[in-house]
Amino acid sequence: MIDYDDFFSRVAHTTQGSAIRKMGVMALKAPDMISFAPGYPDPAMFAWQDFRQIAHEVLTGTDPSVLQYGPTRGYRPLLESVCAILRARGIETPVDNLLITTGSQQGLDLVARALFDPGDVALVELPAYTGAIAAFRNTQVTLLGVRQEADGIDLGDLEEVVTRTRASGRRVRCLYVVPNFQNPTGLLIGLPKRRHLLQAAARLDLLIIEDDPYGALYFEDAATAEDTRPIKADDAEGRVIYLSSFSKTLAPGFRVAWMVAPTPIVEKLDLGKQVSDLMTPSLDQHIVFEAIRRGVFERQVPVLRRFYQNKRTVMQQALRTELGDLIRWPEPRGGFFLWVTLPEAVDADEMVPRAVEQRVIYVAGSAFFVNGRGQHMLRLSFSLPPEARIVEGVKRLAQVIKHEIARG
Ligand SMILES: Cc1ncc(COP(=O)(O)O)c(C=O)c1O
Repeated sequence: MIDYDDFFSRVAHTTQGSAIRKMGVMALKAPDMISFAPGYPDPAMFAWQDFRQIAHEVLTGTDPSVLQYGPTRGYRPLLESVCAILRARGIETPVDNLLITTGSQQGLDLVARALFDPGDVALVELPAYTGAIAAFRNTQVTLLGVRQEADGIDLGDLEEVVTRTRASGRRVRCLYVVPNFQNPTGLLIGLPKRRHLLQAAARLDLLIIEDDPYGALYFEDAATAEDTRPIKADDAEGRVIYLSSFSKTLAPGFRVAWMVAPTPIVEKLDLGKQVSDLMTPSLDQHIVFEAIRRGVFERQVPVLRRFYQNKRTVMQQALRTELGDLIRWPEPRGGFFLWVTLPEAVDADEMVPRAVEQRVIYVAGSAFFVNGRGQHMLRLSFSLPPEARIVEGVKRLAQVIKHEIARG
């Protein structure tokens, strides 16, 4: 028998599977499992008919570039469409500062490889998106956390963490934030705070990695487009690397996302992408471009806002009915997630097997913390299950939680 452990790199030895993916696998295996674990969009909302038509037309047309290698930066007409989407969000950028990526996940990986050296420090929110944590850790950067308040990142804590870290002789490179309906908390960074954050980044000489997959999906009963204005929109100095994606609005299976970065950075990202996959698949880019050109994207987004707002309301009502004030959560004003604080007596990690027995799963909060905290928290995603399953899943979860409280 070959001992493959001897062959693995140091990085491969330390990489760990995502808690969310493991939960997803569990959900698939068990019959009648209700999963609040992965942040998947609801496939019932994909524009199937439009995509069928578009795919048929692009594959029966005369343009060979549909199945050919293309530029690493992306399919030019798609890049131009993305520029127009960005303009509507307040970001003016030349096409040359854009890069189409194979999902924003690739964008996070490329940024990490372009900016971090082993032993450097990068800052993330407490809690933060697990995919970013994993991509960053892959470069052997040390991740330190910055606390959040009701209106997002705590700027006092940011200042303190940076000062303390630099005083100990370490290089702090950048801060990763998800300002719109953060994964996992659902929090929105307030507008004044976004400006202050830019000022703090300038003062502390940090780059900001702004990840924005959910901004378009604000709930009209609680937020407006203006509330989601990207930090990048006011970035006169070039401190912000902005990422966004079509995964939550069109479909994640296309793996089409994009990033905007200052010229010297986008050039490095381009080289990194050449090494990684040469380019994002041509067929996917053509289909997404056509979906934008034919108005599918513009038509879908407002429908999705109402659709997910409704699911959020269903989940909140079910939680209130079943658990009253035993648990707390900040009301999400957009996005896919509800971030629950449990009573002190309940440990979300330990509760997982009991929840699985009752055929309901979630992601335990500790997966999102780089400082080992989050034991009494969990993330519920309301985006995927149909409404009736949300209600039934919350009933099952409530039983489990009440049982945990009774066990003391
Ligand atoms: C905050 C955040 N960033 C990035 C991603 C990855 O998105 P993509 O499908 O574009 O790779 C996700 C997916 O859930 C996410 O929640």
